[in-house]
Amino acid sequence: MLILAIESSCDETAAAVVRDGCETLSSVVSSQIAIHAEYGGVVPEIASRKHLEMITPVVNQALHEAGLAMGDIQGVAVTRGPGLAGALLVGLSAAKAIAFAQAVPFVGVHHIEGHIFATCLEQPVEFPFLALVVSGGHTHLYLVEGFGRYTTIGRTIDDAAGEAFDKSAKIMGLEYPGGARIDALARTGDCRAVRLPRPLINDGSLNFSFSGLKTAMLQWINKHPVAMPSQDASDLCASFQEAVCDVLAFKTEAALRQCGARRLVVAGGVACNSGLRARMTRMAADLGVELHIPKPALCGDNAAMLGVAGNYYLCNGHASSLSLDVTATWEM
Ligand code: KG4
Ligand code: ZN
Repeated sequence: MLILAIESSCDETAAAVVRDGCETLSSVVSSQIAIHAEYGGVVPEIASRKHLEMITPVVNQALHEAGLAMGDIQGVAVTRGPGLAGALLVGLSAAKAIAFAQAVPFVGVHHIEGHIFATCLEQPVEFPFLALVVSGGHTHLYLVEGFGRYTTIGRTIDDAAGEAFDKSAKIMGLEYPGGARIDALARTGDCRAVRLPRPLINDGSLNFSFSGLKTAMLQWINKHPVAMPSQDASDLCASFQEAVCDVLAFKTEAALRQCGARRLVVAGGVACNSGLRARMTRMAADLGVELHIPKPALCGDNAAMLGVAGNYYLCNGHASSLSLDVTATWEM
């Protein structure tokens, strides 16, 4: 089945063509990051307007790169939520319009379901598996037993990991979104230079907390202003990244032991982080667990990732009705 996938939940307008839920024929991502950076974060109204401007050219480009015409598409998959309501509405409306005009089925997919299955565009992964989802809005551990069969076994009780990266970067005066900038600076830093907390690491649960880490960063900066760029800044970034990786790795290992999973998927924008990728690779090797972390382009927001679950739902008779609405807040 040839699926056109559309993503517009936050600050990326994306469209892709995916064949049979596993082969990416094209994947186009138009980022609004430069526009929002000026404001230090995503401005919802600006995001919606930019999506509206970009959705048609991005869809057309995805079809063009796949060497297809609109009439070749056999189904449409789109992010239904969670995300910014106005932004989601642009993608959902476009998906409905295309599906209606072409008389093909469409399905609304959970954004996090998209992230989890992005890895299947590189290689298949067998059920069951444990998924660590680390993005701007999520830090969740799910036991995944099939499409639509997700059990949350751990989650953040406050900030998400990506949020912690972005807020800490902002405190340091780095441009939004700061995750990738901290990652870059950390490469030349000493991760033992600054002692930072590992929140909830010994609480016996599989939950996370990152707001205290952000506060610790603020307190440190207030006492030790750092020039940018400098060795001190790199050391602080490396220390922060190490603290986040320590907690993520510790809880993920505990979750793997607890649910006996032999496969681990790491997904979401923070899975681009070089320190986290190295840490998860070591941990999986030590535990003899099969690790799936997609290439960075598949970790951040993209539309191709929706084509995996979208294909499953459309092939199994779970198309959405044209009356489907966006779901800005949505537990998976
Ligand atoms: O999955 P994603 O693209 O969007 C959401 O669904 O939220 O994740 C975005 C998050 C941002 O917080 C961004 O700073 C973070 O992923 N991120 C990173 C890196 N690249 C992106 N965090 C740490 N290191 C990176 N290299
Ligand atoms: Zn995302």
